[in-house]
Amino acid sequence: MFPSQVTEFFKSQKTPFYYYDLDVLNTTLDEIKKHGLSKGYHVHFALKANNQLKILEIIREAGLGADCVSGGEVQRAIDAGFSADEIAFAGVGKSDEEIELGLNHNIFCFNCESPQELEVLNELAGKQGKTAKIALRLNPNVEADTHKYITTGLNENKFGINASDLDAVLEQLPELEHLKLIGIHFHIGSQIQKFTPFEELCKKANALNDHIEEQGFELSVINVGGGFGINYEHPNDNSVPDFERFFGLFDKHIRLKDHQQLHFELGRSVVGQCGSLITKVLYTKYGQTKNFAIVDAGMTELIRPALYQAAHRIDVLTSTKPEEKYDVVGPICESSDTFRKDISIPKVERGDLVAIRSAGAYGEVMRSAYNLREANPSIYSDEI
Ligand code: LLP
Repeated sequence: MFPSQVTEFFKSQKTPFYYYDLDVLNTTLDEIKKHGLSKGYHVHFALKANNQLKILEIIREAGLGADCVSGGEVQRAIDAGFSADEIAFAGVGKSDEEIELGLNHNIFCFNCESPQELEVLNELAGKQGKTAKIALRLNPNVEADTHKYITTGLNENKFGINASDLDAVLEQLPELEHLKLIGIHFHIGSQIQKFTPFEELCKKANALNDHIEEQGFELSVINVGGGFGINYEHPNDNSVPDFERFFGLFDKHIRLKDHQQLHFELGRSVVGQCGSLITKVLYTKYGQTKNFAIVDAGMTELIRPALYQAAHRIDVLTSTKPEEKYDVVGPICESSDTFRKDISIPKVERGDLVAIRSAGAYGEVMRSAYNLREANPSIYSDEI
C-alpha cells in the first residue's frame, strides 16, 4: 500500500500521526462527481467525519457543499471557503449562539429536529429581522442494519420529528413567520453496507414528500443524508466505495418533482479510505496465552475499536517476517484500548511501524486528550 519512500519518510517522523493519501481522496471525489454531481445532485460533506482544513479545501474545490452539526463546524466550513449558501446545519441540540452564527452567515438551511427548536429558531431569526430557511428532519423509522450507536432513523432514536408529530408541526409552521420551509431531511445511520435500507428510505421519503406537498407546501430540497459504508476489511481493493450503484439507487427509487433537488450528506464514504493512523511498536510482550504488540497510538487517537468494536485493518510497514498472532493494543490504562485481538501479522519488534487503515473518517476528529496525550500534526501525501 505505501511506497517505500513513504515508509522511509514515516521513519523520520514522530509517531503516532495521521497520514492522508490525497490521491485516494481525489479519486473518490472524481467518482462522486462522475456519478452524483453529474446528475445534478448536491453533496454536502459531513465535517463531523473530518475537519482538517486541507482536506476540506480539496473537497470544496471538487464542488461539494458542507454539512455541519455545531457552530464550530459552521465556522470551520466558512474558514475552508465553503460559501454560506452551501452549508446545511443539523443537530438535535443547537444552542442559541450556534443558531445565531448560522443566521449571521445566512446559511443555506437549518435541518430542524423538534417542534421546540422551530420556535426558538423563529424567535432568533425574528430578532435579526431575517427569515431562516429550514428543512424538517423526519424520522423515517428505517432499520439501517448497522451498529446500534450509529443507527439514527428508528422511532426509538432521539433524532428527527416522528411521523406522528408531523401534521401538528405543519399546522404550526404558518404561524412561525420567520421560518421558510424549503425541504425535508433524513439520515438513517452510518456505515450502512447494504443497499436495501436506502431503498426503504426512498419509499418513505417519496410518501412524506407527497404528503407534505399535498398540504400546500413547496419543498425544493429532498435531503437523504449520508450513511454509505466503506470496506474496512479490504481497503486496498476497495479504496473507493461503489458510488455508481449508490447514486444509481437513488436515481431509480427517489421520485423528485420538477422543482425539487436531491441532496446528500456524505462523510465516511468521502474520506474514510484516504486516512491511516501511523504508529510505532513500543514493546512486544509474549504471554502464556497471548502475544501483545503494544503500539504508541491508543484509543485517544482512534476510538472506533473501543467504542463501536470496529475492526480496522492493520498493516505492518517495516517487517516481512513470518506471521504471528497478536493483540495489538495501545498504551492507555483501559482494557478497551485494543485495536485488534488475535490477528496474524508479520512478527514485529520494538520500533516497527504499523498502519491502522481506513481511519480518515471519525478518526482524527474524535481524538481526545485523555491521559494528557500530545497530538502530533498530520501528514499529507503531497508533502513527501
Ligand atoms: N448527516 C447526519 C445528520 C449525520 O448524523 C451523519 C453522521 C452524517 C450525515 C454523515 O454520515 P456518514 O456518511 O459519515 O455515515 N463516529 C461514528 C459515526 C457517527 C455518524 C454520525 N452521523 C463512527 O466512527 O462510526
